[in-house]
Amino acid sequence: MPSKVILDVDTGTDDAVALMVAALSPDLELIGATTVNGNTAVHNCTENTLRVFDWIGLPGTPVHQGMTRPLAREQMTQRNPAGRIHGDLLDLPPATTARVQPGHGVDWLIDTYLASDGDITLVPVGPLTNIAMAIQKEPRILAKIPEIVIMGGAHDHGNSTPSAEFNIWLDPEAARIVVNCGRPIRMVTLDATHRALVSLDDCRALRSLGTPAGEAAARFTEKRIEGYDATQPMHRAGAAPVHDALAVCAVIDPSIITTHFIPVDVETDAELSVGRTVCDFRFRSGMPANVHFAMDADEPKFVRMLLEILGRTA
Ligand code: BDR
Ligand code: CA
Repeated sequence: MPSKVILDVDTGTDDAVALMVAALSPDLELIGATTVNGNTAVHNCTENTLRVFDWIGLPGTPVHQGMTRPLAREQMTQRNPAGRIHGDLLDLPPATTARVQPGHGVDWLIDTYLASDGDITLVPVGPLTNIAMAIQKEPRILAKIPEIVIMGGAHDHGNSTPSAEFNIWLDPEAARIVVNCGRPIRMVTLDATHRALVSLDDCRALRSLGTPAGEAAARFTEKRIEGYDATQPMHRAGAAPVHDALAVCAVIDPSIITTHFIPVDVETDAELSVGRTVCDFRFRSGMPANVHFAMDADEPKFVRMLLEILGRTA
């Protein structure tokens, strides 16, 4: 039986690939998507999400718009040079059939979890504003969330600041609430996503699948590669991480990442390191382990999964 998932997205190029993997994988049942301010303003994230579902022929997938700004901070959306990697609107035709659902995304999350059998994995791949807000507004949802698989966090190096990863940095107060919420958490971090790069050759293979999802994934990943090569080169040129898709693949096949079960907290009050995921690998804090923190990923397996899943049609 496919595993039920909800994706919380700030769509963006890699969120778009994650959505397509979640929608097309035979191992997942995508219950719906909520959108959040992040890579771009939330109304763009919503339009981008609708564009993706229209493009792959699944315009009926529920999309609910969520929070327009972080819980407690002024910083809004990704900073330059992220425009090179995402842009505001995805290079797909405007959504014509897919429509955003009425009501706020946070309320939909609450209602959906309360009505569920406790079997829907939550996969946030943007700033954690919607998730923290839902937990604060209705803590009873916690008992209904079996696992939260987050794309976010970093130990070795950040991408928004020297030590902070973007999704955590944009709304650190929200991230702190979520990592300390007491439910099982896996974090698919930059330490993992930067080890599973998708190359220009892989893009050619994705395009030659001849499917809408393969074409879109190739197009978005080529844009990412150009942006990464120009602004934050990886350990090899002509290849880029597709962070959010790795998180969805980790739900399908947990062996794609290598995790450490450790105490993790989020820095919210420091001049130089706000948004850092503080990892207690040596258990110095006396706190119990709360996060399965990914430090590595299997690149060939990731590329194989993308090719298999994105070769499918709705
Ligand atoms: C994360 O930041 C966003 O730009 C990406 O979509 C991803 O979720 C990586 O730091
Ligand atoms: Ca994202």
